[in-house]
Amino acid sequence: MTTESGYFTESTSAQVVAARNAKAQDARLQQVMEVITRKLHEAVKEIEPTEEEWFRAIMFLTDTGHMCTDWRQEFILLSDVLGVSMLVDAINNRKPSGASESTVLGPFHVADAPELPMGSDICLDRKGDPMLVHGRILDTEGHPIAGAKIDVWQANDEGFYDVQQKGLQPDFNLRGVFRTGPDGRYHFRGVKPRFYPIPDDGPVGKLLAALGRHPFRPAHLHFIIEAEGHARLVTHIFDPDDPYIHSDAVFGVKESLMADFRPVSDPDALAAAGFSGPYYDTEFDFVLVRA
Ligand code: BEZ
Ligand code: FE
Repeated sequence: MTTESGYFTESTSAQVVAARNAKAQDARLQQVMEVITRKLHEAVKEIEPTEEEWFRAIMFLTDTGHMCTDWRQEFILLSDVLGVSMLVDAINNRKPSGASESTVLGPFHVADAPELPMGSDICLDRKGDPMLVHGRILDTEGHPIAGAKIDVWQANDEGFYDVQQKGLQPDFNLRGVFRTGPDGRYHFRGVKPRFYPIPDDGPVGKLLAALGRHPFRPAHLHFIIEAEGHARLVTHIFDPDDPYIHSDAVFGVKESLMADFRPVSDPDALAAAGFSGPYYDTEFDFVLVRA
């Protein structure tokens, strides 16, 4: 337990503040505030900001708050570009080898996407290169999981989610919920994803520009996979050939989440898959851990 250690000075600053919290009712809050105070004071001592610089920091956080609405969470975006979202994700989703890895949820999931028959085309705006996505939902022993719920969403060919272009894109464009049968298999049609910028018209975008960083995320599809008795998986699959695959603005890429976006143009293969023109074939199995 930290005790009050005299007057506040440059050298005692963190201990004096922490000691003032000694009567906190919530031990976890007390611990969190002790660590944050200690690390923050350490940073301030190392940086030695001028008063103008500290005010600029305060104004950055103020602007970040002002940017937030029901549809825009600029603080989560800040956590994303600082790598904190991925760090929290890593700490909370440690997986045994062989299990599919998780990555950031992102701000564009909607809870009420329609449940669709297996095989449906989720691309309602008819833009871009058609794609077939298929694979299996498995447990860590390799058994298929029946009744797994697959919630998928992706940006359109111009790099926007439907919720960013309400009225321009059809509602629920490039979203769908599917349920596996006894074989654990899933398949649906979408569009080959492209890289796109995270929302960069606010303070976080300005910060990235000032740091000489681009705002792009490499091409990906989002998935949330749930099955009874198994841990929920929030993840993506990525295009390994994307120009931003090694510099994702939010650090979400993992090697195990690379998928092969295989171009198909052979007439027999097109006919067998029911496509009238060339498409991309993407196969990916997801492995869930027992809850
Ligand atoms: C996304 O992939 O949808 C996303 C993730 C983090 C920040 C912005 C967008
Ligand atoms: Fe995304």
